[in-house]
Amino acid sequence: MKVLIVGSGGREHAIAVNVAKSSRVSKIYCAPGNAGIAQLAECVPITAMEFEKIVAFAKEKEIDLTIVGMDDPLVGGLVDELEKAGLRAFGPRKNAAILEGSKAFSKDLMKKYHIPTAAYENFQSAEEALTYLETANYPIVLKADGLALGKGVLICNTLEEAREGVREIMTDKKFGSAGNTLVVEEFMTGREVSVLSYVDGKTIKTMTSAQDHKRAKDGDQGLNTGGMGTFSPSPFYTAEVDDFCNKYVYQATVDAMASEGRAFKGIIFFGLMLTADGPKVLEYNARFGDPEAQVVLPRMKNDIIDVMEACIDGTLDQIDLQFEDNAAVCVVLASDGYPVSYEKGYVINGLDTFQDKEGYYVFHAGTKQTEKGIVTNGGRVLGVTAKGATLKEARENAYKATEWITFENKYMRHDIGKAIDEV
Ligand code: AMP
Ligand code: GLY
Repeated sequence: MKVLIVGSGGREHAIAVNVAKSSRVSKIYCAPGNAGIAQLAECVPITAMEFEKIVAFAKEKEIDLTIVGMDDPLVGGLVDELEKAGLRAFGPRKNAAILEGSKAFSKDLMKKYHIPTAAYENFQSAEEALTYLETANYPIVLKADGLALGKGVLICNTLEEAREGVREIMTDKKFGSAGNTLVVEEFMTGREVSVLSYVDGKTIKTMTSAQDHKRAKDGDQGLNTGGMGTFSPSPFYTAEVDDFCNKYVYQATVDAMASEGRAFKGIIFFGLMLTADGPKVLEYNARFGDPEAQVVLPRMKNDIIDVMEACIDGTLDQIDLQFEDNAAVCVVLASDGYPVSYEKGYVINGLDTFQDKEGYYVFHAGTKQTEKGIVTNGGRVLGVTAKGATLKEARENAYKATEWITFENKYMRHDIGKAIDEV
């Protein structure tokens, strides 16, 4: 069968690697892809928000399955457009992708269906938000309702900071229309864990757990980024936490969406915080995490096409989802200066070293093929993933492999997976 992947990051590269492993797949296309994906797929110069072009391309090439990796096209309704044209697509429809697309929606859903999450209030007016903030407890969390590249969350320690935050989000519209509604949320403390799952509208199968490192610098300092590295599984995701979430979070979310007439098919990514009062949902995403996919997918044993088709067909209950009994760590190699400003266009050396190394992967995020060779073309450039029998071994392997790659301006965190030493 012919598969089209929509997206251009490390996550889409990780998806492409698993799709390429499927014996059922004869040809892979990617729109727009990157230099790494181009080694497995034919990349076409169509960007993820060019819906008409994507639909026309999928029809012309008689694509059997389109996998939408990114949040923007999912929230914008790309899956609906593909389905209207009679094409098969993996990912939630627009009315279900709202689970990620609107934080106000997801908070209201959790409240209505008693899914554990932080206390909150939604505001459409800056004035009302400011009045509320006068008497609130601090720290407090402000969230732009809509998609904001993972940057629409502000943790405010004082009323002054909160006033400034309301101004940025609601008045100055720093995140555009994403800030038309503001969610003001109780500040929680605890460890964060990501759990990704496949969903077919009614059945949910969770994948192995993972943990991201969102801040730019070692010791969780610096600005929030898309993610600087991940490990999987999380040793903090215990059987007890899993039991709790199976009872109160996972199926409850799928059932809530179905009850609302928004049956969810695709990936639900649960961002959990393990608080002293038990696990609570920080956020939902409607897609694989990036770079969570880069540690979870290499450990998945199933044929990804079988699982994705079962999600579309509503037969996920018949899939025995299995992961390897090992560990993986991903260290992101970024351009120095990310997430603020950075230079691009530097030649990347050492990519070939990964070719014959079992259990090692170099996922491309911001790269481009030029006459000079493959060059840096973004803030997050590569994700270096290694497996190991244990988390510690995987971490050693991953850091060893980061040395195989050189480029000017190369920047990475040196403490990805450090938390596992506390176990
Ligand atoms: P989100 O995009 O909702 O995952 O938020 C980004 C990050 O902000 C999370 O990964 C947390 O580290 C932090 N965060 C979000 N909500 C809260 C909260 N209610 N309490 C504490 N930290 C939070
Ligand atoms: N790594 C977090 C995300 O993909 O949203």
